[in-house]
Amino acid sequence: EGAEILSEFSKTVDTIRGRLPAKLHTPLIGIVCGSGLSGLAASIRDKVEIPYDEIPGFGRSTVAGHGNALAFGLLGRDGIPVVAMLGRFHPYEGHPMSTVVYPIRTFALLGVKNIIITNAAGSLNPKIPVGTIVTIQDHLALPNLTGHLNPLLGPVLPAPFDTRFQPISTAYSFSLRKIAFRAAHELQFPRSALTEGIYAWVSGPTYESPAEGRFLRNQGADVVGMSTIPEVVAAKHAGMEVLVLSLVTNMVVIPDKYRSAREEVDAEIAGIPLPPVIEEEVTHSEVLEVGLAKGDDMRKLVEKIIELLG
Ligand code: 6GU
Repeated sequence: EGAEILSEFSKTVDTIRGRLPAKLHTPLIGIVCGSGLSGLAASIRDKVEIPYDEIPGFGRSTVAGHGNALAFGLLGRDGIPVVAMLGRFHPYEGHPMSTVVYPIRTFALLGVKNIIITNAAGSLNPKIPVGTIVTIQDHLALPNLTGHLNPLLGPVLPAPFDTRFQPISTAYSFSLRKIAFRAAHELQFPRSALTEGIYAWVSGPTYESPAEGRFLRNQGADVVGMSTIPEVVAAKHAGMEVLVLSLVTNMVVIPDKYRSAREEVDAEIAGIPLPPVIEEEVTHSEVLEVGLAKGDDMRKLVEKIIELLG
């Protein structure tokens, strides 16, 4: 089985390189563009896009606001070769975990050393408002929160994917996180534009119930989302340095007191008027809107980080 997997990966790598000029064969930096963030690829020069359906082993992203291609090219003053995923794969689309992380492992085999993974996330922390970019410093991805999804479940794969018990305590590269803050400083972003936090991964596709939001907050999470963590685990497992940037697109409403239907009926019976119910729901279009509105900040930040890396 190991030999089969390796032969599929080598088909993938050969197909990709066959479509690229030699100077783009070995991208040093990988980028994953989250919901509404495919604009990150706008400043890539000498760009070559390869649709996912023309790459052996790749799935297709079915999510609105996600593209479906790899973009190769040069970024920054020094023309560093990069590869960007325009759109990613999620377990909630029905993709097996091996498909979710297949592009990440492909990045590793192409030569990517540093990976910058972006996403849109909900904020659980009242001090982290909509529009903030969060450099992730740790995660919560307990199996019972994610339906026993872990991309490393299953047989041990051939090298370089052959670590059985992968430590994850140093997954979020401290030096890359420092570079992110240095980049924000050089761009003269206000201090509040970039902060640090812990990401809770849930499978989706439902957004959190209020009680689940409160649960995750009580467990120490700052933001919550449906992506990224499988990619982080696979990237670390493949030997890459990882940076995650989450864009807060909405607040998760955590009630300190539930509105009681019983009290309301009691009040109505007693003839006491109550204020109208305000019910809030997060929508995917609101998530995409903030992605578009703040996407430019994210693009500038990623570009500056890559410049500082190079
Ligand atoms: Cl509020 N929850 C989850 N799970 N993912 C999100 C989100 C919320 N906002 C953007 N992505």
